[in-house]
Amino acid sequence: MITKIAVLGAGTMGHGMAETFAMHKYEVNLYDISKDKLNQAKDEIREELILLIEQKFFPADELEATINRINFISSLQDSVQGCDYVIEATPENLEVKQQLFKQLDQYCTAHTILASNTSSFELHKMLKFVSGERKQQIMINHWYNPAHLMPLVELSYFGDIKQFVYEEVENLYHSINKQTVKVLKDIPGLIANRIQQGIAREVFSLMEMGAVDAENADKALRYGPGFRYATTGQLEICDLGGLDVWCVVGDNLLSVMDNSSEANSLLREKVNEGKLGIKSNEGFYDYRHADIQAIKTEFAKRLIHQLKASDYYEGSLGK
Ligand SMILES: NC(=O)c1ccc[n+]([C@@H]2O[C@H](COP(=O)([O-])OP(=O)(O)OC[C@H]3O[C@@H](n4cnc5c(N)ncnc54)[C@H](O)[C@@H]3O)[C@@H](O)[C@H]2O)c1
Repeated sequence: MITKIAVLGAGTMGHGMAETFAMHKYEVNLYDISKDKLNQAKDEIREELILLIEQKFFPADELEATINRINFISSLQDSVQGCDYVIEATPENLEVKQQLFKQLDQYCTAHTILASNTSSFELHKMLKFVSGERKQQIMINHWYNPAHLMPLVELSYFGDIKQFVYEEVENLYHSINKQTVKVLKDIPGLIANRIQQGIAREVFSLMEMGAVDAENADKALRYGPGFRYATTGQLEICDLGGLDVWCVVGDNLLSVMDNSSEANSLLREKVNEGKLGIKSNEGFYDYRHADIQAIKTEFAKRLIHQLKASDYYEGSLGK
């Protein structure tokens, strides 16, 4: 049974993952190579918990105890000592992850389950320097950002993973109220990111051809497909609409839609101009006169609102 957890990397994802485990009463070691990042993570966790409390989504009297359940540690070896489950959220760099798993193979006890939060690497590539035995308990466990609010965690069910290890990890995620998706093949990007990239590719392409502006493209997704996607999966939507209709529309539209195999040039131009979104005050929208913190808080509030609403959602159609 998993009781003691280590999260490696305290950045965008790692701090939220540690926070989530701590919110559900797990003791967590949070490790980073940068002490500044660890201090920053502590502040971010406090701020995020306070917002959850203000939104009546987390009890106020749990604030200090939750933060105290997280040990902020700057030694890798110390951070994984005695842990049953270790998940890494270090930068998306294959060599960094390969070296890290090599060290973890040496530092962790035989029973420790290891995981990566990678967004795009195949599992077998990250395990280049890992011993055969250990490969039976290493998985990709892919969270979504912001980690403490998004319900999804994709779990790899491939490679050399043993059934009981998979079940133990699945139980862990159910115990912290996450919705798990079982991924059956070692493919880059797993499931949700690939679906999302498919949508994004068409949005960028429609913008590039001048068919729509940013605001209307976002409205089309938010009040059209996205509105249904919040409660209903793609295949359920097809069943509701009729597969014959989806077949005809697919034949008519797919041949005229974007099928490029690299990032859209519109997106690349923005990146080259230093327009990276809110972190540089300009992206598809202009934030130069906006209150960035207020935008981030508003986004988090909308997700909390959705989480509250989804408590009442009873699984999939037809079940
Ligand atoms: N940001 C997202 O939206 C998102 C979503 C899902 C998955 N991911 C994946 O999660 C992982 C982390 O992404 P992020 O956005 O949190 O990155 P980030 O850059 O915000 O954080 C990475 C952290 O790792 C630390 N670090 C660097 N080298 C390290 C090492 N050798 N050991 C320990 N810590 C080290 C850095 O100091 C930094 O704090 C990546 O694999 C990424 O693809 C990111």
